[in-house]
Amino acid sequence: MSLEEEIRALKDERDAVLLAHNYQRPEVQDLADFVGDSLYLSRKAMESDRAVIVFAGVRFMAETAKILNPDRTVLLPDPKAGCGLSDSITGEQVRAWKAEHPGAAVIAYINTSAEVKAEADSCCTSSNAVKIVEEVPPDREILFLPDMFLGDYVRQKTGRKMHLWVGDCPVHARLRPEGLDRARLEHPGAPIIAHPECGCASQVLPRVDRVLSTDGMVRFAEETRVPEVVVATEVGILHRMRRLNPTTRFTPLDAGAVCPYMKEIDLTDIRDSLALLRHRIDVAPDIALRARRALERMVAA
Ligand code: 13P
Ligand code: SF4
Repeated sequence: MSLEEEIRALKDERDAVLLAHNYQRPEVQDLADFVGDSLYLSRKAMESDRAVIVFAGVRFMAETAKILNPDRTVLLPDPKAGCGLSDSITGEQVRAWKAEHPGAAVIAYINTSAEVKAEADSCCTSSNAVKIVEEVPPDREILFLPDMFLGDYVRQKTGRKMHLWVGDCPVHARLRPEGLDRARLEHPGAPIIAHPECGCASQVLPRVDRVLSTDGMVRFAEETRVPEVVVATEVGILHRMRRLNPTTRFTPLDAGAVCPYMKEIDLTDIRDSLALLRHRIDVAPDIALRARRALERMVAA
């Protein structure tokens, strides 16, 4: 039996659904029941009626699935799949920041630990951050964390004054304005699409054609009929784009934009995870209860 066949059989045996993020390895995406961005996968985890959720993504995504589905088993096939951005802020740091701004609304990007989410009023993802910020009453102060580039993008889109946590994603922070100028010269006429985590938002955003979440980029790729598109995000997304639209050339802005955390999980890990029901994600009930309120606002937006 091939590894793929073993996984399919184990999925049935365990009554499991396999969710994969757009940055996962191609062979993992190909085997998943659902592939998408953080918001789509959070919703799919809630909609599924399977007993087990295997999350091929990173820890904060699996934790989110567990918080939203406390009665189900959630597995992260490799516990090393973390997130550099999520590591940039702790629950204690949020509490100290809140103490400096009493009454402020705290908006936490989904790329955060459960403890950080528990301190937030709302969570958001790259696809609904603007909407979530717009829901905050205009006279209320806003603390946005932890990605300063996404925060700066939202600030520009909404015109809201926001305090930004100084965190960034090590993969997207390297996608800089100079690279975009070079891409314009080297790929004349090709639209450039970018993830809002890209470095130096205020300079990057005026230079690109569209700012989109990873699913927004996939939809753009599927619908476009232009000969070439330049893609400013983690390169794992190119697999899905090329499969959905084989006639357009998808060129990464930076072929070295590879998230090591997103590549931790391979097919062997998924097979072992299903066979041994490991590595289970658990969130302390008091933290889960508070984080859930903020996450419910995110999935409803
Ligand atoms: P998306 O929600 O756009 O998929 O982004 C998640 C992420 O980790 C980007 O680095
Ligand atoms: Fe985290 Fe950046 Fe990797 Fe996304 S690409 S999981 S934000 S380190």
